[in-house]
Amino acid sequence: MHVSHLSLADFRSYARVEVPLDPGVTAFVGPNGQGKTNLVEAVGYLATLGSHRVSSDAPLVRMGAQRAIIRAAVVQGDRQQLIELELNPGKANRARINRSSQVRPRDVLGIVRTVLFAPEDLALVKGDPGERRRFLDELITARSPRMAGVRADYDRVLKQRNTLLKTAALARRHGGRRLDLSTLDVWDQHLARAGAELLAQRLDLIAALQPLADKAYEQLAPGGGPLALEYRGSAGEAMAAAATREELYGALLAALGEARKQEIERGVTLVGPHRDDLVLKLGQLPAKGYASHGESWSYALALRLASYDLLRSESPIGPEGPSTGDGGGRRAGEPVLVLDDVFAELDARRRERLAELVAPGEQVLVTAAVADDVPKMLAGARYAVSGGKVEKAAP
Ligand SMILES: Nc1ncnc2c1ncn2[C@@H]1O[C@H](COP(=O)(O)OP(=O)(O)OP(=O)(O)O)[C@@H](O)[C@H]1O
Ligand SMILES: [Mg+2]
Repeated sequence: MHVSHLSLADFRSYARVEVPLDPGVTAFVGPNGQGKTNLVEAVGYLATLGSHRVSSDAPLVRMGAQRAIIRAAVVQGDRQQLIELELNPGKANRARINRSSQVRPRDVLGIVRTVLFAPEDLALVKGDPGERRRFLDELITARSPRMAGVRADYDRVLKQRNTLLKTAALARRHGGRRLDLSTLDVWDQHLARAGAELLAQRLDLIAALQPLADKAYEQLAPGGGPLALEYRGSAGEAMAAAATREELYGALLAALGEARKQEIERGVTLVGPHRDDLVLKLGQLPAKGYASHGESWSYALALRLASYDLLRSESPIGPEGPSTGDGGGRRAGEPVLVLDDVFAELDARRRERLAELVAPGEQVLVTAAVADDVPKMLAGARYAVSGGKVEKAAP
């Protein structure tokens, strides 16, 4: 798929901007702080309903404006769809598909698929477990948009269970009403049900990603690997032995049972996918805390390239089944690859290798402050971004 037109209103630094786009490579070039990343951030938002830079929507709305609008025309095979998202910080966001009446923003997921690589991705390797959980969960949602619902269910159950535990912890300390344990049992089951589904998807993803990441790293930094992706679950041993979703459910329930006393003391849920981590190993050592800056950077890039490979090889499976529908073996939804300010960080050899790997992509959006940082191999459309304007430039 590719985005054939992007239109923004009151998004970040843009009051209004219209950007026609073609398949192939498009590079946005201009000095620092002119709004290059803002453009690709908007494309990424269509795919994940979130920004790769901030965790809330407020900074995405232009200073002084009430709401931001992202509109895009999306081409998949011979089909074109229009999507529109309205960001209302502090209130519910709104969405439309093909100018029809409103749909839930979540219904837009799966129409635009992106793999976005940006300097912030170094946090995948060096940052907290939450960064890696977000990486996994965004990717499982891209593979299967219905997982957005499962994630929302899990978050809701977790919040309610935590409230219950907090009340129980306070009551214990101050001699209030004792917790009715049967209520907690019910919440355990809800948490384990959604949690097992999330876990099953994460484990399946990691198994699929591992060989692709290892291959990508070898291409970027020959002889530097191997990579190993190891899931570290808060449900411990029991989870490691579980193979099916039912067994994962059982393992989570058992682990919740074991942790219960501690959870009531501390007033917080200690077991579940929200406490898990993905350990990224380079050779025998974890990359976090051991890998060099350049190695960490290549690792993060290898994870993104592996994601790209994986999504490229799969059709999104929505509630209504594969969205290809043409049965002719043509894969739907090849993702848009976004490389935000990536080339400046790489040495010449890795630049060339990366360019070779991504050049055949259906649509590749690149940002760079310096035109010469974009490898020659990635010839294509060029836009000059400066002073709030995005103008077609000579390639
Ligand atoms: N909500 C907002 N309202 C108004 N301006 C904003 C908003 N959010 C960001 N900006 C402005 O957008 C600019 C940053 O844009 P962007 O991150 O796209 O720059 P860039 O061209 O990618 O720069 P670099 O080359 O440094 O990465 C900053 O000047 C910032 O002040
Ligand atoms: Mg930028």
